[in-house]
Amino acid sequence: MRRIFVVGPRLASFSIGLIGAILSRGVHGLSNGVAKVPVLGYNTWNFFQCNIDQDLIIDTANLMVSLGLQDAGYNYVNIDDCWAEKNRSSTGELQPDSVRFSRGMKNLTDQVHALGFKAGIYGDSGWFTCAGYPGSFEHEDQDAQTLFADWGFDYLKYDNCAIPFDTIIQQGTMGKYVPMSNALQNLATNGSLSEPVVFSLCQWGWSQVWLWGARLGHSWRTTGDISSQWSSIASIINFNSFITQATGFYGRNDMDMLQLGNGNMTFDEAKTHFTAWALMKSPLLIGTNLSAITNETLSILTNKEILAINQDSVEPDAVSPFRWGINPDWTSNSSFPAQYWSGPSENGTVFMLINTLDTPSDMFFNLTESPWIRAGRQYSVRDLWAHTDNGTAVRNFTATSVPSHGVVALLLNDSGEEPLGIYPQCAVWFSCSSENGTYVDG
Ligand code: GLA
Repeated sequence: MRRIFVVGPRLASFSIGLIGAILSRGVHGLSNGVAKVPVLGYNTWNFFQCNIDQDLIIDTANLMVSLGLQDAGYNYVNIDDCWAEKNRSSTGELQPDSVRFSRGMKNLTDQVHALGFKAGIYGDSGWFTCAGYPGSFEHEDQDAQTLFADWGFDYLKYDNCAIPFDTIIQQGTMGKYVPMSNALQNLATNGSLSEPVVFSLCQWGWSQVWLWGARLGHSWRTTGDISSQWSSIASIINFNSFITQATGFYGRNDMDMLQLGNGNMTFDEAKTHFTAWALMKSPLLIGTNLSAITNETLSILTNKEILAINQDSVEPDAVSPFRWGINPDWTSNSSFPAQYWSGPSENGTVFMLINTLDTPSDMFFNLTESPWIRAGRQYSVRDLWAHTDNGTAVRNFTATSVPSHGVVALLLNDSGEEPLGIYPQCAVWFSCSSENGTYVDG
């Protein structure tokens, strides 16, 4: 019986993955094994914005090693906007800022690679980047050659600013990403790259990107820019709670870069931010100043039990809400998103409980509210924040005194048949009947 439970979800995810691979023809997803799981790394934008240079990138990479972040799996160091000169070269090439990146980009990627990381860079599908640097519109092949074949970057975040007028672009929201996708694909197939480039779409405008992102990229931004306030975290969780099924091995909803360590989030809010991003299988890109990182922030970012679920190479599904909690199911509420979530993982069923209220509260659920739990079984409970085994759950589970804006993350595993004689016969009374036809729910 146990095999049915364990194997079923795996088979399901495998077939979803295959469909994704077929749909994403010409893409760099499942078919080649690059970025089969969410990218873990660092990005300069959230803390440093345009105040970046080559030394910061190398210092950041060194800090990622010394702080243990590389060991925890963070293996991308990504440069965001503002790295370029405002003008292209006389032959049309992008050029790095001659002062801040004076040693050149090949020198930089060589150093980043020598430290054991991949290197990421930023571009834009329109005339300009969001901070006014050259965009790649009508320069896609040339820029792909410069950034990836010549300079050796491994990852492209591709933004959405300064879109040409309709009469010029004559493309839909997906279409404007196709020329760069094709350029990357051409480089991969003509032998210019040792590995395909990871293509991260930064399509934050309303475009239903989750319906088509997997055809072109490894991830796609679903919401506008994150801020370091709880209100932003809650609103991004709410939005993404409705599109969790878009995520799989072939690509995933990108909830934007982590704001842990920035602003004034409480410890519990920071844990919730990280847990939701990780368990919803978003890329996890650290966005704080590593030279001033606190032990608290570091302890969150290096929670290996949470990271293991994000990086699950067998089960790609995100957690999804099974009950919205204080709101009726399917309510969209940017301040009070869904509270009760679950999903499959290689090592058991994951539960995530979020106390969206401003006061501590107890949170209760019946195990079989989750579609990944078998009726009539009892489950061992692992707490992924306390790192403790918390006994056995029979029928239901209550987390007591969950802090305001706090989170509970659990891993449940089948530990045999539930004790005999428990009443009622069905914990969740939906069409539950005895053999002679007596319905216990009337
Ligand atoms: C947009 C993106 C951000 C960042 C900035 C850079 O706002 O959404 O993540 O890349 O551009 O200008």
